Amino acid sequence: MGPTKRFAFPEGFVWGAASSAYQVEGAWEADGRGPSIWDTFCRQPGRIRDGTSGDIAADHFHRWQEDLAILSDLGLKAYRFSISWPRVLPQGVPPVNAPGLDFYDRLVDGLLQRGIEPYVNLFHWDLPQALQDAGGWPRRETAYRFAEYARLVCQRLSDRVRWWITHNEPWVAAFAGHYTGEHAPGIQDPPAAFQAMHHLLLSHGLGVQALRDEARQAAQIGIVLNLNPVHPATDSDSDRRAAGRFDAVLNRVTLEPLFHGRYPEDLTAQLGPLFSMVEEGDLATIGVPVDFLGVNYYSRTVIAQDAQVPLIQAATVHPAGREYSQMWEIYPEGLREILVRVWREYVSGGRPIPILVTENGVPVPDGLDFDGKVRDVRRMAYLRDHLIQVRHALADGVPVGGYFVWSLTDNFEWAHGYSMRFGLTYVDYSTLARTVKESGHWYGQVVRANAVEG
Ligand code: FCB
Repeated sequence: MGPTKRFAFPEGFVWGAASSAYQVEGAWEADGRGPSIWDTFCRQPGRIRDGTSGDIAADHFHRWQEDLAILSDLGLKAYRFSISWPRVLPQGVPPVNAPGLDFYDRLVDGLLQRGIEPYVNLFHWDLPQALQDAGGWPRRETAYRFAEYARLVCQRLSDRVRWWITHNEPWVAAFAGHYTGEHAPGIQDPPAAFQAMHHLLLSHGLGVQALRDEARQAAQIGIVLNLNPVHPATDSDSDRRAAGRFDAVLNRVTLEPLFHGRYPEDLTAQLGPLFSMVEEGDLATIGVPVDFLGVNYYSRTVIAQDAQVPLIQAATVHPAGREYSQMWEIYPEGLREILVRVWREYVSGGRPIPILVTENGVPVPDGLDFDGKVRDVRRMAYLRDHLIQVRHALADGVPVGGYFVWSLTDNFEWAHGYSMRFGLTYVDYSTLARTVKESGHWYGQVVRANAVEG
């Protein structure tokens, strides 16, 4: 190994960690919370790999003070969490469940008391079951319900919360939920997936307006997208074209309406009827200017032409000879690539707004050693290598304003249940005891130094 290099970050760079309500809170029946589509989905046999649910999860609902103490001990400046819509509105619509909203009130106060900025995400996939029963995201009315929900959360919290996220990864909610069916509500119906996608984006636009109307101080409002560079498996024309199609369905289907006011023309030309739910004025609503863009990055996608795959004739492949985590290829360079692309092709054309890396992290096997430590050296290396790529993107001119590790603690990883651990903090699921991992201590040093060595 050669000498290490020091990569310093700009002053004011925001260092944080992220979580989501259903994945950490537990307390699924506490204080009047209503059921979400994930409560329902987890109870259906075969949906979750280890047969578990978020009923208890990391029990953050009861242990939030302990989790805030970890954030504060590590010196983190920001915490991105989501609000559980069914905890606040058990039926998805008023009346408000006061104890549910009170929980977030205490959480926000607790963060501010510790000098940690709350980044509040309104929707991280846990739709109230009552709204699913009424048609869910494939139905346009759900977008209006979301705006009402955004409005009332904002009325309560915006005297203290400055940073707002409408949605986390609407693409995943739409396609994993309604196309592959791997996520709640477990539907496999391509038209429903496109309808869900459109109504999620529409609800974003309506939600931004609601937040701007209600905010009691200057609010920074944005959306979080899952974006992957899409690479062809070979140099052949057919693989390149397949990668282009996949990029349209994965990345451009959200980026173009949000930043260019249209759906990708190659997609609408090919799949016209799947966009028939778009009404006049919708794209203007969706394209409302935002104050930042959040990018979640984990890996790249490698694509080969495959005539068997309906609609896009493109399939994901896993190149040999690469390093893999338990879920994806480890490909740090992809973070710089996607940040530069998104900045140049989408964000920089409008008024200048920062891009935040709102999630980045890795599932690798780890556990408590004899001395009670968790030596997750692969996670440390992953985070270091990705942070160096963020630094390169900054040098390329991309205004990256901050970085959030996924996740503060181990938690319920959706269809994988508890089999995947992403935390900077280890959770013993039999006792719910927390142990900060070596990666957590290392990240704390990075934050304090405002620099990474590698
Ligand atoms: C993202 C999700 C987050 C978590 C990570 C691993 O797609 O936003 O909830 O599951 O993946």
